[in-house]
Amino acid sequence: MKSYQMFIDGEFVDAVDGRCFASQNPYTGDAWARVPSAGSEDVARAVDAADRAWREGPWGQMTATERGALLWKLGDLIARDAGRLAETEVRDNGKLMAEMLAQVRYLTQWFRYFGGLADKIEGTVPPLDKPGYFQFTRNEPLGVVAVITPWNSPLMLLAWKVAPALAAGCTVVVKPSEFTSASTLELASLFLEAGFPRGVFNVITGFGAEAGASLVTDRRVRKVTFTGSDATGRLINQQCAAQFKHVSLELGGKSPNIVFDDADLDAAVAGAISGIFAASGQTCIAGSRLLLQESIHDVFVERLLATVTNARLGDPMLPTTQVGPITTPAQYDKVLSYIDIARQEGATCVLGGKPSDIGGLFVEPTVFTDVTPAMRIAQEEVFGPVLAVIRFRDESEAIEIANGTAYGLGAGVWTRDIGRAFRVSRQIEAGTVWVNTYRAVSFMSPFGGYKDSGIGRENGIGAIREYLQTKSVWINTEAPPANPFTIR
Ligand code: NAI
Ligand code: MG
Repeated sequence: MKSYQMFIDGEFVDAVDGRCFASQNPYTGDAWARVPSAGSEDVARAVDAADRAWREGPWGQMTATERGALLWKLGDLIARDAGRLAETEVRDNGKLMAEMLAQVRYLTQWFRYFGGLADKIEGTVPPLDKPGYFQFTRNEPLGVVAVITPWNSPLMLLAWKVAPALAAGCTVVVKPSEFTSASTLELASLFLEAGFPRGVFNVITGFGAEAGASLVTDRRVRKVTFTGSDATGRLINQQCAAQFKHVSLELGGKSPNIVFDDADLDAAVAGAISGIFAASGQTCIAGSRLLLQESIHDVFVERLLATVTNARLGDPMLPTTQVGPITTPAQYDKVLSYIDIARQEGATCVLGGKPSDIGGLFVEPTVFTDVTPAMRIAQEEVFGPVLAVIRFRDESEAIEIANGTAYGLGAGVWTRDIGRAFRVSRQIEAGTVWVNTYRAVSFMSPFGGYKDSGIGRENGIGAIREYLQTKSVWINTEAPPANPFTIR
């Protein structure tokens, strides 16, 4: 078994009390890595280091250009080590090597983009209405940022948060998911190699209720940025409210893929499949509801089944595998329980609907038809390879169904009618709408949720603002007022 240490104040360390836990490989079922279990004392040490690094360390004195250069260098090191980092992720979360390798390689761009942005954050000089003053604004870092990430794409979601936070001049303490801590600890050694001052990037590993909660409630943490379940997001939001902390939340979804009868059906079938069966449906943007216009419903389902029936489940390291395992035993149980719920609610299972014969944590790609919008399978996030197919009559009904959940993360619209593409994308309540494609993301493109899918935006120029606060500075350019009891 491989043994990992946490990364605090530029050093790899064990938990103060020496506690550890094991991380499983979801494909083999083996415990493959030992990871420290942080308690409140470890968390306090990490926040201490981050707080000192921001206030006293060289980080706070560096120019934004110098900070940007370090981020750029880190990006280069990630590109160099992408293979090793991706393998570590696959071992821990069971996603396909092909996907993880592409994802990790792409992360280089986040560090370059935000590294380049670091020294382009300018203040303003308002054309002031009051003579005798000069007034300007500065954008200053918030301070210590807590970064809490889930197990589905650990390094990608980390990069979305850490790159803009560091570009803004903040320091960070990362708490990766207890199911996938290893890749974040491997990344820590690249921060060391790139030459980041100590305390700028810290990693504590452990469980949400203990390490996570201690981190969120530490008074010195000025912002929490979180990706994960809505239940945990709600709790974190309440805790941040009590301490007036800034917070960004990227939560769940029940994203609709809407196919109109004029769509390119081959493209839409491919989009529907990648929307829900890539990563075994374990993505926040999974297109878990397929809305089909009545006239194409049957032919579309037929074509979709023809492809998915032959999907190759198996070893995520193999390039020929198309569907990997579910990442955790609890998630596996959750997926199967939603399959039961869908059956009880009267949906028709036309594919899968059970554990795969190959055993382990594999669930067969599953498709339910005859789903109605009020069913739980159409309202609640499964986070697994389970597709709910819903019929609609016309554009207005499609929009009503699409918007009829608590969520609003993503949506796909498939049509050849340009007017309809604009109309529908405007009316969909979601942070991202893809027209005739699905699942595309970029470091340049803002990403986040409407409604219960979250607060705040990641990626794009605006993302750096999530880690800055504005200071207004007033300079008096005239003699003091004659009467000190009046303020101008
Ligand atoms: P979770 O939301 O509990 O975990 C995400 C992160 O939050 C982990 O690092 C965890 O340790 C941490 N955490 C948990 N409780 C915390 C607390 N009280 N204070 C601070 N940090 C805490 O999600 P989990 O249990 O891994 O998965 C449960 C469900 O969440 C899944 O079934 C899925 O539906 C959803 N999920 C959504 C994701 C998304 O990308 N939106 C990603 C992963 C899971
Ligand atoms: Mg694991």
